[in-house]
Amino acid sequence: MATNQGANAEAIQFHYDTSNDFFSLWLDDGMFYSCARWLDGDETLSRAQFNKLAWYYDRMDLAAGSGLLDIGCGWGGALREAIARQPGIDHQGITLSKEQLQHCQSDAGGNLNAALLDWCDLPADKTYSNIISVEAFEAFAKPDLSKQQRIDAYRGFFETCHRVLAPGGKLGLQTIYLETARSTDTPEFLQKHIFPDSALPELSDVFSAIEGLFSLQDAENAAYDYYRTCRAWQKNMRRRKAEIVDRFGVELYDRFHTYIAMSLIGFHQKTAGLLRLMLTRV
Ligand SMILES: C[S@@+](CC[C@H](N)C(=O)[O-])C[C@H]1O[C@@H](n2cnc3c(N)ncnc32)[C@H](O)[C@@H]1O
Repeated sequence: MATNQGANAEAIQFHYDTSNDFFSLWLDDGMFYSCARWLDGDETLSRAQFNKLAWYYDRMDLAAGSGLLDIGCGWGGALREAIARQPGIDHQGITLSKEQLQHCQSDAGGNLNAALLDWCDLPADKTYSNIISVEAFEAFAKPDLSKQQRIDAYRGFFETCHRVLAPGGKLGLQTIYLETARSTDTPEFLQKHIFPDSALPELSDVFSAIEGLFSLQDAENAAYDYYRTCRAWQKNMRRRKAEIVDRFGVELYDRFHTYIAMSLIGFHQKTAGLLRLMLTRV
């Protein structure tokens, strides 16, 4: 069984358990905390988030018997959309955030099947036809790992997905990756105050780690989509600044506003990219 080589529950909760109300003030209605997919200039952030899920679900057979696992399910939006497409689908979400779990299991969150569970601890006796994992991968390797240690950590993840997927099953993965930047360039501010114990993969890490386990069905780099997503979050934050500062304090506002601005620049300058992958278990 793999062991967690990245952010543990405490590190994840430092970021994600800030407050559900805080995130709801600047994310879209579905509470997606990941890159959307923009097809034209005018769509809303919610629509663009739906487009992103369509990219994955149109490439999976959600009707296939043994269901869908969401690794890093956030506030449950991807599972709610899967249920809307395939009512009664056997679904399971896992997260390391207590606040997210509470939302997923509430009436407002759709009373989802969700658990506070590290992917490393997924039981071996349950298999799924499909896995979706959207921007959890960034938390699977600590910044001080060597390239080989990072590849090994990611391989542990892909081996686990291979184990819990039925033969021919699909893995839809979305992750930020380092395009021209290197992990040693990651600003201390991000490591210390935003995402402790997390580091972005390089493209070659991901492809080395899937060898022999998954074949590539489809891929795209959507760095500009992330620039636009960050712009939308930034606009929401600025529009609601008074309320955010009043309820959560100026320090939290400044910290998140700075990190979104830094991310936006990274995607615009293409030091970072956004990888969408559809993989088939071999
Ligand atoms: C950026 S959020 C993305 C949430 C959601 N997929 C979305 O698109 O809105 C990252 C998610 O990954 C989860 N996560 C990070 N490391 C994890 C781990 N080792 N096991 C399970 N979930 C993990 C976090 O708890 C969080 O739900």
